Amino acid sequence: MFDPKSRAWIVPSLCLISLLVSLEVDGSPAPMILLESAVAKGAVCLDGSPPAYHFLPGSGSGVNSWLVFMEGGGWCRNVTECVERTGNFRGSSKFMKELSFSGILGDNQKTNPDFYNWNRIKIRYCDGSSFTGDVEAVDPATNLHYRGARVWHAIIDDLLAKGMNKAENALLSGCSAGGLASILHCDDFRSLLPSSANVKCFSDAGYFIDAKDISGADSVKSLYTDVVNLHGSTKNLPSSCNSMETPSRCFFPQYVMPTMSTPLFILNSAYDSWQIMNILVPSSADPGQAWAECKLDIKKCSSSQLQTLQGFRSQFLQALPTSNSTGMFIISCHTHCQSGGRPTWQDVDSPMIENTTIAKAVGDWYNDRSAVRKIDCEYPCNSSCPNITNE
Ligand SMILES: *[C@@H]1O[C@H](CO)[C@@H](O)[C@H](O)[C@H]1NC(C)=O
Ligand SMILES: *[C@@H]1O[C@H](CO)[C@@H](O)[C@H](O)[C@H]1NC(C)=O
Ligand SMILES: *[C@@H]1O[C@H](CO)[C@@H](O)[C@H](O)[C@H]1NC(C)=O
Ligand SMILES: *[C@@H]1O[C@H](CO)[C@@H](O)[C@H](O)[C@H]1NC(C)=O
Repeated sequence: MFDPKSRAWIVPSLCLISLLVSLEVDGSPAPMILLESAVAKGAVCLDGSPPAYHFLPGSGSGVNSWLVFMEGGGWCRNVTECVERTGNFRGSSKFMKELSFSGILGDNQKTNPDFYNWNRIKIRYCDGSSFTGDVEAVDPATNLHYRGARVWHAIIDDLLAKGMNKAENALLSGCSAGGLASILHCDDFRSLLPSSANVKCFSDAGYFIDAKDISGADSVKSLYTDVVNLHGSTKNLPSSCNSMETPSRCFFPQYVMPTMSTPLFILNSAYDSWQIMNILVPSSADPGQAWAECKLDIKKCSSSQLQTLQGFRSQFLQALPTSNSTGMFIISCHTHCQSGGRPTWQDVDSPMIENTTIAKAVGDWYNDRSAVRKIDCEYPCNSSCPNITNE
């Protein structure tokens, strides 16, 4: 039967190689859906192009369960920064490509036991306002469209029409600016789904705190004020947060969460690398660049810098919600975003607090198997942060 001249044996060996590669990468290609129909509603990216999302359908027990994950990528606070985004995928779907799903979005049951067979969606982020903007006018000089909130609604409407209106389980999630969006839109998401559904929200690296930078300036407050003003976000921030005199306050989870009613889970590092780099030590606060190395690698911080970081951790912990229905997993790794990749979500070396991986903590909380309020010990303690690279 075996013909040495044929290439028959090569085929299985190639299959084996590709199988090994796919196990190693644990990514499933997730096709992109360009939502052309949203353009008529003015729900567009900064450059006016249609918004987009990636979708893998659910199967088996997961067919009526929906995970909606919002992509992150900072904010644009002025015209220059927003125009810059129109030349890449952060402001235009023209530059977006197919993605691969992993971590909480992955379909590997072993590394993603609670969500692997759900309908999984990643909403692409091309508005620069955590999906809160809505300005009707378009300046012909720049052609910038500030329409993040319309993008949010257009995509959610499309998903509802595709079966999410029959959801039994739903989780709104996201990382970084998308993690913040998952908080800001949580009650709205809840209100759009069947009242019988189990609906919760899970923010990864989206708990940006209102803290002064090392020079004593309110850098992050002024960033958020600029973003909210430029994008016309006020009317799209949670109405429960009745702070219209200073609407940008409602961009901070610590002020908006106590006013909200849908259960939330906070995954964040107390030494979040983005927050250290942009809230605690923005370049404007460190003109001499004394923090240049420490910002990139916590092991290179001097003892006085480390003391400053411990102070930031204390502020972070004090800013956390006190409600015991809030789940939390506050790690001490110097990192940013941990749910979107298998190495940090759940794997042999993934970070743990009290022997619990992030995947288990979020699954236990979502499914009410237990309350989860885990806070890692202060750096440098015995925490498990292997293989974590900063963004
Ligand atoms: C936009 O914001 C950045 C960051 O603060 C700043 O460096 C830049 O000068 C601003 N540009 C304009 C036109 O205001
Ligand atoms: C939350 O706190 C309330 C009041 O202190 C208590 O009755 C309830 O059992 C707590 N729930 C959880 C999940 O710990
Ligand atoms: C974690 O697991 C190790 C080894 O299995 C065990 O010795 C230790 O007691 C556990 N720690 C906690 C906090 O559960
Ligand atoms: C980790 O814990 C062990 C035992 O509790 C201790 O001996 C060791 O010094 C700790 N390591 C660090 C880096 O704290």
